[in-house]
Formats: sequence, structure tokens, C-alpha cells
Amino acid sequence: MSTYLLPDQNAYFHPTSINDENHIQTEKQESYNNLLATLPKDKGWRSETVFLYKGFWLSSQVVRGLLLIHKHFNPQPTDIFLSAFMKCGTTWLKALMFATANRHRYKFSDHHLLRTGPQSAFPFLDTHIFLDHPITNFDHLPVPRLFATHFAHGLLPTSITSTCKFVYVCRDPKDVLISKWHFMSKLRSKELAPLSFNEAYELFCNGVSEYGPFWDHVLGYWKASQESPDKILFLKYEDMKREPAVELKKLAAFMGMAFTAEEEDQKVVEEIVKLCSFENLSNLEVNKDGGGVQMFTEKVVVENQEFFRKGKVGDWKNYLTEEMKDRIDNITAEKLKNSGLTLGITK
Ligand code: A3P
Repeated sequence: MSTYLLPDQNAYFHPTSINDENHIQTEKQESYNNLLATLPKDKGWRSETVFLYKGFWLSSQVVRGLLLIHKHFNPQPTDIFLSAFMKCGTTWLKALMFATANRHRYKFSDHHLLRTGPQSAFPFLDTHIFLDHPITNFDHLPVPRLFATHFAHGLLPTSITSTCKFVYVCRDPKDVLISKWHFMSKLRSKELAPLSFNEAYELFCNGVSEYGPFWDHVLGYWKASQESPDKILFLKYEDMKREPAVELKKLAAFMGMAFTAEEEDQKVVEEIVKLCSFENLSNLEVNKDGGGVQMFTEKVVVENQEFFRKGKVGDWKNYLTEEMKDRIDNITAEKLKNSGLTLGITK
């Protein structure tokens, strides 16, 4: 069961099963199976197969999650979404957004995040439908409601993208590839042969990886952020590593919760940066072996510790040959040509 904190009440909300949700799922099963049968398929990193849905490779379960979001999610103008391609810094941003929104509630020495870790701080929408808590009922969440998603901008309903704010974080695709291969290899069904690094590399370069192509994902949010900078804050993992306090201040201002001069004097920015640092979060009991788990679906249960690996910029250097690196950099340069965005171009 997933639990989220109700900051105003200092209590946890324990959602109860609602049969409507099962009903929705059963009712839709047939048309959903028919839809999947029509979609192009390729090799999945975690599961056997991914499906090309409206230009993006998705597992069958998140295709279903997306359809249900379209049909049943009711966005509020005050909602703030955290969006990212997998392994670009979702966990870190979750912690930073939660800590920023709730900074008046906790002492930094006895913070909610220290007990739960970032993953449980607010809902991950894509697979929420498979849990005990219906997508139609997020009314218990405090305002602004915070949600996380990996869906591409163009896949989400316009009722969400035209109404809500988005914080998007991206990262050097070379580091994304390494991080994702490690993560998905841990999650990959033991019934399937392991996905070798070379296979993952080929698939990634060809755009075939869950929620990808990576570059189309980034470009979708980048273009939307250029059109509506007040609606989408576009962040880079590398900038956050270099100057976390600067990026955090941008984040807080974008969320409509800018730090006051008094808070800055009291070093609140530094406290949040420290609280949410890789070193701090990865060493919490809840994020260590046997600490806590995230249940994405009945079958996909991920230990919290898997969300923390190295937390560094440039780990790709330990995996990619010069030729492999050049190929990804060339794809990046070609895809982002004339967009005004640069990513991970390194000497
Ligand atoms: P690495 O595998 O390169 O170490 P996501 O949260 O989107 O799944 O991304 C996971 C990546 O972010 C992993 O990268 C993980 O180690 C890193 N990460 C997790 N928490 C972090 C934090 N607080 N600060 C910096 N990096 C973090």
C-alpha cells in the first residue's frame, strides 16, 4: 500500500481500495488488448517487449496507465508535475520539490524524507492505477498537488499540459544509458536472458528504450518550455550537480515558493541541498538494503536502494569506447540541431 503524507495534518493518508478502479480495468481490457495488438513492437529492457505508442516506446502496463490518465485524471491548475526521462534525476528532484513545498513543516534534523526517502514523497502517476489508489481520487493531497511522470510531453492529455506546471530534468544521454542499463538489468525478469550492455547501447541509439526515444522526450519538453517558460522549468542534472543552490532557488521560485531573504539568511537553501544530497539520501536506512520498496505494479517491485547508484556526472567514461561516445554525441548533436539546446557534448 502506498502512503503519502498530508502535510497539513501531520498524518499519513492510507488509501483504500476502490472497486471502481478494478471495474475500469476490466471494462477496458478488451479494447486495450486490441490496441496493443496493432502497435509496433521491439525488445524491452525490463520486460520482453515494448510497444511504439504515438512515437514513444512504452511497456504494456504504462500504455494502459496512460489511457487511464487520459480518461480519468482531473488536473487542477495548481498541480505541479515533475517529469523526466528515466534515470535523469527524478529521485533527486522528488526530494527537492517535496522539501521545498514542505519546508515550514519539518525540522531538518527530523524530516519526513529521512524516514520515507524521496520515492514515497508524492505519487508517480504512470503506474499508480495498478495500485490501491484510484487515479480519479487524489483529492486528499495537499495543494499544490505534486505528481511525477516519465511520459513524454506530447503523450499527456492537453488538459494537463495546458493547465499545470512542469519541472523537467534532463541529463547527458551517455550517463542516462549507463544508469538505465544498470537499473533495468536489476529489474529485468529472471525468466528473460540478461540484456547485454552492447544490446542496450544499440537499442538506446536506435531510440528503443522505455519512454524513449530519449532525444524526442527531451525535445518535446524543451520546445514546450521555450513556448511557455512560465509553465515548464527545464533543468539539467549536470547544472544541479555543479550549483545545487542556484538551481534550487530557480525551482522554488518556479513553484511559486521563492525563498525569502530571511530564509536565505537562515541557510534554508543549504539545508535543503544537504538533506536531498546523494550522500545523505543514499545512506538513510530506508534507502539501504532491506530498507523500503516501491511497488509500481504487482510484479514490478523495486527496492529503494536501486534508485541510488553513483550519483555522478560522467560515469559513461567507464563504459563507452571513444567510438561509442562519438556515436551518441553525434546523434545528440543531430537531433538537437537548431533547437538551442545542448546536452552532454564533451571533449
Ligand atoms: P546513476 O545511476 O548514474 O548513479 P532517477 O531518479 O531518475 O531514477 O535517476 C537515478 C539516477 O540519479 C542515478 O544515477 C542515481 O544514482 C542518481 N541520484 C539519485 N538520487 C540522487 C541525488 N540525491 N543526487 C544526485 N543524484 C542522484
